[in-house]
Amino acid sequence: MRLRSFRSADFEKLYEIDQACFAPGISYSREELERFIAHRNSQTWVAEEAREIVGFLIANREPRKTMHIVTIDVVAAWRRRGVGALLMDAAERWAKDHALVLIGLETAQDNLGAQRFYEGRGYRKVDEVENYYADGTAAWVMVKELS
Ligand SMILES: CC(C)(COP(=O)(O)OP(=O)(O)OC[C@H]1O[C@@H](n2cnc3c(N)ncnc32)[C@H](O)[C@@H]1OP(=O)(O)O)[C@@H](O)C(=O)NCCC(=O)NCCS
Repeated sequence: MRLRSFRSADFEKLYEIDQACFAPGISYSREELERFIAHRNSQTWVAEEAREIVGFLIANREPRKTMHIVTIDVVAAWRRRGVGALLMDAAERWAKDHALVLIGLETAQDNLGAQRFYEGRGYRKVDEVENYYADGTAAWVMVKELS
């Protein structure tokens, strides 16, 4: 397993993974995904095993020394094998290297697996947003302070 930065040739595969990871209304359109990846303050890590992409994470640097996790997607067959942890480790390291003090993210309230994953890494629920996703699903806002 290795992590590397995003290359433009990865795009269709990342789009396909995102479509498979999330229900319609939560998954991103091509345009949204493109915009998030191309944003000048964003960083995308790709996890690869034997040249196959098995997951990715997009994070965005925001005001007030905050990093926002835009999305983290691991291919279903590769879950619970440490890929997500590896991607989050890289993003958190990047935030620390840039002297950021807070990481924030949103996750669907019915996505209990993701909530367990984040809680296990020290994220806590601080707010909820009704109708956060296009399909009407509410989200938890979760944060982690970096020391
Ligand atoms: C959430 C997600 C990124 C986790 O990635 P992963 O590679 O499976 O996570 P890891 O293997 O690194 O898990 C690390 C730990 O997190 C916890 N965890 C991860 N997934 C979990 C689940 N579904 N239920 C409960 N705990 C979970 C466990 O403690 C796990 O350690 P363990 O396997 O030794 O028990 C992945 O399930 C995924 O891509 N899901 C679909 C997309 C999604 O929901 N993304 C988050 C949206 S905000």
